[in-house]
Amino acid sequence: MKGGQPRVVVVGSMVMDLVFRVGHRPKPGETLLGEGFAMFLGGKGFNQAIACHRLGAETTLVGRVGRDEFGDRFIRRLHDERISTRFVSADPEHGTGVASPTVYPDGGNSIIGVPRANLALTPADVEAAEDRIAAADVLMLQFEVNPEASQAAAHIARRHGTLVLLDPAPVHAHCENIDWPIDFLVPNEVEAQMLADCDSPEEWARELYDEELEAVVISRGAAGALVIDGRGVREFPGFRVRAVDTTGAGDAFRAGLAVMVARGRGLDEAVRFANACGALACTREGAEPSMPRLDEVLSFAGANEPAG
Ligand code: RIB
Repeated sequence: MKGGQPRVVVVGSMVMDLVFRVGHRPKPGETLLGEGFAMFLGGKGFNQAIACHRLGAETTLVGRVGRDEFGDRFIRRLHDERISTRFVSADPEHGTGVASPTVYPDGGNSIIGVPRANLALTPADVEAAEDRIAAADVLMLQFEVNPEASQAAAHIARRHGTLVLLDPAPVHAHCENIDWPIDFLVPNEVEAQMLADCDSPEEWARELYDEELEAVVISRGAAGALVIDGRGVREFPGFRVRAVDTTGAGDAFRAGLAVMVARGRGLDEAVRFANACGALACTREGAEPSMPRLDEVLSFAGANEPAG
């Protein structure tokens, strides 16, 4: 740790989630009556920042919303959580990002997102936060903001010895062949398969890993996580919970991992903790409300064994 408290900077998205609960996946051409609707603050960057803060890290979010009602709600929520909005700008042209997570009866989801203002985040916005990135232990990046801004952040981090954790989500054309300095690559199974284009989780991990990385960590939902680093491949079973809504569980997992790495903990301990964070997030509806707090994770992990 560079300071007395773990420090994390998230350069990432803010997205208003318009959540539809449905009984089954609609077929092409089918109009389906949903079973429930709710709006939650979300976006991978926002979720990860909220989770890092709740898990005890001093957290800075660098991002962009629109000048609209959704944007105002993000700013208010950040104030309520006591997370600084100094590096959150309001875009004059583009609206706040939106997404429509569709949640199925087993708690699983599919998400369509339109990043809007998130794509207008600039390298200059990130450079304004250089001191924060330099003082941080970990920088968290995803693929929901302008990749040029993320790239600038990754280079600043490398210059100052800040570890970079990339969540390559969602995989999309602009982010292929990225060449940023990264220490931890943390895809889920869908993203790992898209990036590696081979058959099994172990093959994806081997394909994505190279010695310039500290590790590749593939989150596997209820199945836990698979890790590859200089010590080889290891599996970490997940915790069994009754899933209500898995939206944001991957963000809770990544935040758990980042905070433990920022605390200087070993990777195996960090992944077990991350699994507990992800599992807890599945037990509640919505993205932001399901990001867990440190005391909850510690008592959950103390009272439950991973499903071996
Ligand atoms: O990871 C979950 C998040 O992905 C949701 O909150 C949604 O906004 C999408 O960005």
